[in-house]
Amino acid sequence: MTATAQKTVRTVGVGVIGLGTVGGGTVRTILRHRSEYARAYGIDLTVSRVCDMRPEREAELGLPAGTLTTDWHELVADPAVDIVVELIGGEHPATEIFEEAFAAGKHVVTANKALLGRHVERLARLAAEHGVQLKCEAAAAGGIPIVNALEHALTGNEILTVAGILNGTTNYMLTRMEAEGLDYDEVLAEAQRLGYAEADPTADVDGFDAASKVAILSSIAFHTRVTTDDVYMQGIRDVSAADIAQARELGYRVKLLGIARNTPEGVDVRVHPTMIPEGHMLAGVSGAMNAVFVVGDAVGETMFYGAGAGSFPTASAVVGDVLELADAIARGEGPMPEVEPYDRVLGLRPIDELETRYYIRLMVEDRVGALAPVVAAFADAGISISTIHQLKDGDGTRCSVVFLTHRAVERDVRRACEALSALDEVERVASVIRIEDVAAWTDGVEEN
Ligand code: HSE
Repeated sequence: MTATAQKTVRTVGVGVIGLGTVGGGTVRTILRHRSEYARAYGIDLTVSRVCDMRPEREAELGLPAGTLTTDWHELVADPAVDIVVELIGGEHPATEIFEEAFAAGKHVVTANKALLGRHVERLARLAAEHGVQLKCEAAAAGGIPIVNALEHALTGNEILTVAGILNGTTNYMLTRMEAEGLDYDEVLAEAQRLGYAEADPTADVDGFDAASKVAILSSIAFHTRVTTDDVYMQGIRDVSAADIAQARELGYRVKLLGIARNTPEGVDVRVHPTMIPEGHMLAGVSGAMNAVFVVGDAVGETMFYGAGAGSFPTASAVVGDVLELADAIARGEGPMPEVEPYDRVLGLRPIDELETRYYIRLMVEDRVGALAPVVAAFADAGISISTIHQLKDGDGTRCSVVFLTHRAVERDVRRACEALSALDEVERVASVIRIEDVAAWTDGVEEN
């Protein structure tokens, strides 16, 4: 008799609410690997119920007749469902699904970043009160196992920095802008045509999606409460092909980064277009891929790379969470209840206090003496300029001039930009992009 034959196989029931891209991938992944889970882990992972408003999804996914309901209450209450998987997104009825599942003593697995970004603390506490768990690997950077790394493998560290490309749509757009010299509107239209960007691209291009993810990751990394509303947010709408090309000449790449740093002055958490040195690992992440750079005081620099969206990559994260819970259920122990991880509230460092270098492009009058008041406006705001460079886009009356600053404080840069905008010589402040001090990300790492 083989070891496999001796193993007791226990059934664990999963209920999947929402059979869209991720829900469909989740069901397909479980069905495809079911016998392997039984053989390897002794778990017969069964899709006991599914919920969707499209009854035809049952047959499309190869599920037995009678598995589908259109009423999520019925799924949550079903005694055959041990784990509730919420994949409908949005705030309602997802919140009620969580509440009802916890009250019924059932664990919840979710990919709902918008909900967790705002309410993870309340929902985690509620899960803890009911002795169940809330798992959300798929909510931040899709298929990348970054929540698992922060909650398990890296817990021995003090996490100093989490910085990532957390939105595939905008990374795809920036990559295309860089490769083809296309401007924002052209590349957005292309991304929409190819299905990378939604018809209403706001959540991606304005940084909300990345802000939710960096809120979730920084809460976990720093054991504190950071919500989406705490994150300074600026999207990519104002990034032009000219700035990306200029960044390249200067040895930088422009990326929409979610950055969270635990600094002595408070948690610095922000999403914005960022210039990073072309040699940095994050600079090499192109197309719709995601990557998360994590610095721990013991481990130093690490980077996690993978698909941040898509049916099967996201399903991979969902099913990983499901199997972890199922393993404990099958062993008859039940998983540890959700810990209440956010028992401290670290202060936030306001964006006004950020100190870094800046790239500032002005559209100015192209005539003798036009730069004198411009340079004076920088000096008046206490900002030291490191280089000035005129671009070749002039039409004889106006042209772009790029200023790189030495380290400056954000508050002063704002003040300078207001003064610059008011000058007759300045047609407009065309762009302001922060040049990230990536060396500071490793401040606090132990010496070897
Ligand atoms: N819209 C997201 C992205 C995927 O473009 O990365 C889901 O979070």
